[in-house]
Formats: sequence, C-alpha cells, structure tokens
Amino acid sequence: MIFLKKISKSYSKNKTPSNVNLSNKQYMYTSFDDTLDKIVRLLKSHQSEFLSGEELSKSLGLSRAAIWKNIKKLQSLGYKIKSRQKSGYRLVAKTNLMLPWEISDGLQTETIGRKIYYFNTIDSTQNFALNIALKPHENGSIVISEQQTHGRGRQNRKWASPRGGIWLSVLLKPNFEISQASLFPMLTSLALAMSIEKVLRLRPKLKWPNDLTLDDKKVAGILVDASIESNQIDYLVIGVGINFKIQPSAITKIVKNSENFYGVTTLVGKKEKADPILLLQSFLYELEQLYNKLVANNFHEIKSEWEKRSSTIGRNVSISHPSGEIKGKAVGIDNDGALLISSKGKTQRLLIGDVTYQI
Ligand code: BTN
Repeated sequence: MIFLKKISKSYSKNKTPSNVNLSNKQYMYTSFDDTLDKIVRLLKSHQSEFLSGEELSKSLGLSRAAIWKNIKKLQSLGYKIKSRQKSGYRLVAKTNLMLPWEISDGLQTETIGRKIYYFNTIDSTQNFALNIALKPHENGSIVISEQQTHGRGRQNRKWASPRGGIWLSVLLKPNFEISQASLFPMLTSLALAMSIEKVLRLRPKLKWPNDLTLDDKKVAGILVDASIESNQIDYLVIGVGINFKIQPSAITKIVKNSENFYGVTTLVGKKEKADPILLLQSFLYELEQLYNKLVANNFHEIKSEWEKRSSTIGRNVSISHPSGEIKGKAVGIDNDGALLISSKGKTQRLLIGDVTYQI
C-alpha cells in the first residue's frame, strides 16, 4: 500500500481522552467542554462595550467567582480582556493560539473539524488520534497542538515541530476499500495547496508523493496511518505538518542529516502577520470538499488539479526505492496515486520512494 503505514488494531484500544495523563506543563481543551467557548462568544459579540460580570453570570448560569476565574484563564491563554470594576469585561484582542473555539468560529465544514482536541504540547497528534480512533463519533475529529515533542514524519523520520507551526491530525472513517486509501495523501496535499493559495496568496508546488514546497524547499508534509479490516479501510489518521511561521534554520539544524533532506522553508516570515486559524479553517473546508468528490467517484478532477500544481511531472528524477535507485522522467500519476516513470522506452509505476530532481 502506498504512503501508508498500516497499524495494528491493539495499538488504538486503551487510551481515551478521559484517561489521558497530562504532564504539569501540558493542557488540553476540546470543542465539547464549552464554558470558555461561551464566554469568548459573549465577549466577541459585545466588543464595543463592557459586559458586566452579572450579565455573564446570568447568561452562563455560573457564579461571579467562576466567571472571574474563567476570565483569568482566558487572559493566561493570550486573550486581552480589560476588566473594570462596576463595568465588567471587554475583549480587546483575541489570542494567537489555535484554541478549539477559535477554529470552530467560522468553520464551514459539516464533519471534518467539528470535534477538536487541542494541546499546547504533545508527543505527537498522530499518536493521540490513533488512540481515540476506535471510539464512536470520531469520524472527522481533529487533533491539533502548538508544538510536538516527538513529531513523526514519513518513513519513521523525525518531524521537527516547534511553536509557530500547525501540527494536525485528521481522523476519518471512510467506507472505502483499501485500494482507495492511497488517494488520501494526494487529496490532502491538494486541499492544503488550494487553501494556501486562497488564504495566503502563495503558489506552493506539490512534490510527489505529497510534499508541499515553496522555492523547491519543503513547507509542509503529510503522513497517513491506516487501519485495515479485511478489504476495507477501518480508519485513517491523516497527519499534516505545516511550517506556518517557523524559523527554517532551527528546523534545518534538527533534520539536515535525515535522508532526502532538501531544505525547509516557512509560509509566513518572522515579521509578517497572518492568522493560522484562517488557513486551518480553509484547509478543513477544502479537504471536506475534495473528500466529497472522492465519495462521488470524481477522482479525475482531483488528479488533474494535483498534476497542475506538481513540480515532479515532466522532470528527470532519481528515486530512492526499497529495490534500489530508479532514474527516469516523471510522466504522470496513475489512478491510484502511483508515479509513472519513463526510462529507455519503458514506463514503471512507483508506489513509494523519495524523489530527487536531476538537473
Ligand atoms: C513527512 O514526513 O513529510 C510527513 C510529516 C507529517 C507531520 C505531521 S505533524 C502532525 C502529525 N503528527 C505527527 O507526529 N506527524 C504528523
């Protein structure tokens, strides 16, 4: 199976969100514990005026002391909230964190991203998503973290995940046969490219199998873990790592010795301003749209949009493959996502491998 790491079922059975052990520097918020969400909503809808503690406490059915405690919590999460005796509270600026209620506010999807698990830090969002995959009602859930301590890349490589990036896993339970699982990395990389074009007005390229690049340097990567039952997909966890606003030199230091390193870059520069939430919302929307197209059997449109943005098709490439080095010209993508390589009059289909461009 291409690009997919098959995982054993037993791995996902035990941990559920209710028994996640958080270290003392770690916190988690979800889209379904909603007190903070409600307070932020109320403050946002009254941004030009102060909202009294009494009004907040009446609307939410909480004591004044509980309101004060939650306001303090929001301030510690980066919200600028003015508090004035006798007048109450006023929201001056929202946080930069990708908190669940900020993602939900304005999200236009029906399923993907409707349930959110948020962490300030975690080993890997991918691992957490795998741990909840067997619970009911998790189709479309996302797990997001501001940073990861043990981010995983393709082919068991390390994925450097400092603050400033978007580190995200999407859990899907498609009613598909395993042969279709290999289409998901393509779908995801295309959705991400389209959202970057729309929100940031940049033109990333797609490097087979599913890297996003800017100026031929890597700006995002995708990893899919799949659980398979007989001939059917049981669930997929799609891991998406986006170098949103990172320092390329810091990441380079960590990963420069790994195989296939070809440079790292960032979508947003140090001095530029951009809201990761807007990119995230747009990406989840595009992903859902493309997913619906796949469900409706419309893969051809996805393939042709992917090929349009590809930096691989038409190039002379060398591919490190388990069976050895393969050289030739990349001439297209097959209907299952395989790369078609032409060399000495023959065309080969490749399902896995790392591409290097020949000059
Ligand atoms: C690649 O090697 O190009 C794929 C990188 C995928 C990284 C993402 S970040 C969110 C999710 N959690 C992980 O540990 N890995 C994926």
